[in-house]
Amino acid sequence: MHTAIALLRLGYKVGSIDLDARQGTFTRYIKKRFDFITSSRDHLPSPAHMAIPRSQADTVAGQEEEERTFFNLALEELGRSNHFIVIDTPGTDSHLSRLAHSHADTLITPMNDSFIDLDVLVDIDPETLKIKGPSVYAQMVQEQRRRKTLCTGKDMDWIVMRNRLASLNARNKEAVAKVLNDISGTLGFRLAPGFGERVIFREMFLKGLTLLDIKEEKGQPLTLSQLTARQEVRNLVVELAPEKLKGRVKPFS
Ligand SMILES: Nc1ncnc2c1ncn2[C@@H]1O[C@H](COP(=O)(O)OP(=O)(O)OP(=O)(O)O)[C@@H](O)[C@H]1O
Ligand SMILES: [Mg+2]
Repeated sequence: MHTAIALLRLGYKVGSIDLDARQGTFTRYIKKRFDFITSSRDHLPSPAHMAIPRSQADTVAGQEEEERTFFNLALEELGRSNHFIVIDTPGTDSHLSRLAHSHADTLITPMNDSFIDLDVLVDIDPETLKIKGPSVYAQMVQEQRRRKTLCTGKDMDWIVMRNRLASLNARNKEAVAKVLNDISGTLGFRLAPGFGERVIFREMFLKGLTLLDIKEEKGQPLTLSQLTARQEVRNLVVELAPEKLKGRVKPFS
């Protein structure tokens, strides 16, 4: 949600697709945003949004065919009038998720700052902390990335970002950072600056707002924590379109 709104506020046209329709958090977030706009009459930029549910067709082949058709239609429709399409994928493996990965120009994998989450990328020996190999998810990314390159001749840019960084527990932070640096070359991702753990992320969901929508109201300047958090979002978004954004990142409007 923050990525989509940040790009909108930088002046890009943005579409969004929710592939995690059963959980539906992204879609609910956007619905809450529309409710807020209706009741407050504030103008807030919002992406052109679509949700694609998993197919209920009788056979696996039928399901995949239907999902491919809907996904391609959504990409075509949103791609016609937007600079970016932000796609949210479910945390579990699914045909729709694999399809989205195979079309991604950029893949952002947010990772909580712990060894449990590192397991999403690599299989680590608990005794020696030696890396045994890529995880099931990393193998899926590699497979879909190969597929994309075969079909389009273009590579995917894989970005791993650390989320919910704690201000304490520096030793754990360093240990996770070391493993990530060690594996980034082998797995083929680059590390982007992360986000700190901030209660405000959870609070804003209820109104459909993001950190980029908070105005300096009634002479109240943004708090240091809000300013820092906005800067973190900006630092991530710059990584998405470096040729357009680096060196000339204007303030969010
Ligand atoms: N940096 C953060 N600080 C505080 N809370 C956060 C932060 N990032 C995420 N959260 C909270 O953690 C919860 C899960 O976040 P989110 O839905 O983005 O995770 P997810 O990786 O998409 O999960 P899933 O795999 O279930 O889809 C939400 O309540 C969200 O507000
Ligand atoms: Mg999710």
